[in-house]
Amino acid sequence: MDHTKVILDRDYQIAPVDPRIFGGFLEHIGRAVYEGVYDPQSKQADENGYRKDVLSSLEQLRFTAMRYPGGNFASGYHWLDGVGPQSSRPVLKELASLSIESNQFGTDEFIRLARKMNWTPMIAVNLGTGTPEEACNWVEYCNRPIGTKYSNLRAGNGSAEPYDVKLWGLGNEMDGPWQQGHVPANQYAIHAQQAAKLMKDTDPSIELVVCGSAEIGLPTYMEWDRTVLEYIGDYADFISLHRYVGNLNGDTADYLAVTNSFDQQIEVMDGLCRYVQAKARSRKRYYLAFDEWNVWYRTQNVESVNGHGKFAQHLVEEEYNLEDALVVAGFLNSFIRHADVVKIANLAQIVNVIAPILTRGDQILLQSIYYPLELYARRREGMALQAIVRGPGYESKNYGFVQTIDASAILGDGVLHTFLVNRSATEPATVEIAPAGIRLKSVLSAELVTGPSAGACNTFDQPDTIHNQKLANINLIDQKATFQLPPLSIAAISFGIDDKA
Ligand code: AHR
Repeated sequence: MDHTKVILDRDYQIAPVDPRIFGGFLEHIGRAVYEGVYDPQSKQADENGYRKDVLSSLEQLRFTAMRYPGGNFASGYHWLDGVGPQSSRPVLKELASLSIESNQFGTDEFIRLARKMNWTPMIAVNLGTGTPEEACNWVEYCNRPIGTKYSNLRAGNGSAEPYDVKLWGLGNEMDGPWQQGHVPANQYAIHAQQAAKLMKDTDPSIELVVCGSAEIGLPTYMEWDRTVLEYIGDYADFISLHRYVGNLNGDTADYLAVTNSFDQQIEVMDGLCRYVQAKARSRKRYYLAFDEWNVWYRTQNVESVNGHGKFAQHLVEEEYNLEDALVVAGFLNSFIRHADVVKIANLAQIVNVIAPILTRGDQILLQSIYYPLELYARRREGMALQAIVRGPGYESKNYGFVQTIDASAILGDGVLHTFLVNRSATEPATVEIAPAGIRLKSVLSAELVTGPSAGACNTFDQPDTIHNQKLANINLIDQKATFQLPPLSIAAISFGIDDKA
């Protein structure tokens, strides 16, 4: 078969797509916060110091759950240092990235930003150098009505109304030897359970993400997750997964097949969650929070995260190319395909640090990975459908067999969204969308991201090499849509459909 057929059946539904899978991550590292979203000195700053150019570009990505303040940073962060009058906040040494933290941006600035951007705040507490009590006080500060010590403190800092932060993370990557306060699984489990109890007693409506394995390559992978889940029991609502990938061998075909391993990572963790649930004879279902994911390899070394004792340095400012954009689309396809178990996912990160957006002085650059994120952001509401792909493929070196076309689909109200990645570096692909139980009426919109080569990048000098363009020539005949995808491309096509086929 030389063309690819994508079969989408109305009855083969996976689950509603949780909007929170289109989340982001804002950490105090490098220039993510300072010179990223917050830069009072910039010509681009608004009256609160937020960068208008950055925020308007972020707006197009419609991020949902926004994780804050880290990351590794969270494991040394004492939230009280970041509230109150800015002039009295301490300047501190910051050990996660060996930098200086000014604390000019803290909980109140983050919540104000989240409200402005319509983000759902997701706060990771400090279970590295912090205590369960400190974590529970943070919940009190954010969520309790006035009348207690920390809720009154919030009111004194300008907000009598609670912030109502529903999503909380129980630390960050506590299995990683690089983490401040890293401990073995059984000790983390005790610590996390203590914090969880106090936090949920303070506000029973919150949902908690327990730290799962930070890397699939760590020796404690899975055993850590099992130990932690078995101990924490019903206190956890989600377990975290993290994943960073890259084209380490300079082999594009192999790199683009990495999506197989995303599917596998999700399925294996879901299997573990079900095992723990079954063993405990529990009714409690754990869901997955893929709360750090991205391409990251060029700047993944000790020097790249060393701020040399300075403030807001250029750390981990990865420059992305076209093949990275395809991998980002592959992550999103995998989350949509697993909408029944992945309920939260956070792109790490949103600006400057491994991010779709870079700032330089008062300038801004949209990197290649910005564009697939934008395509999906406009088409995300609905029910994930199983996308049955029949077509050519290839055997990759490290990830097994993949079809040349990677696909996912969302059935919305009167609309069918399809997402397709052509992994071939040389061949255009003819794709047929073959619906069952869905009557395709029209093409509402069809967009494409592609570029001259796998390594093509946007730069401050040439910012438009990779961008969204229209996908033309979609033939809609006989209930089938047929079109061509150029080599190395991502397409998002929304069809108008009849509600009843
Ligand atoms: O996102 C950058 C870092 O990667 C985070 O701080 C940490 O959680 C992960 O190792």
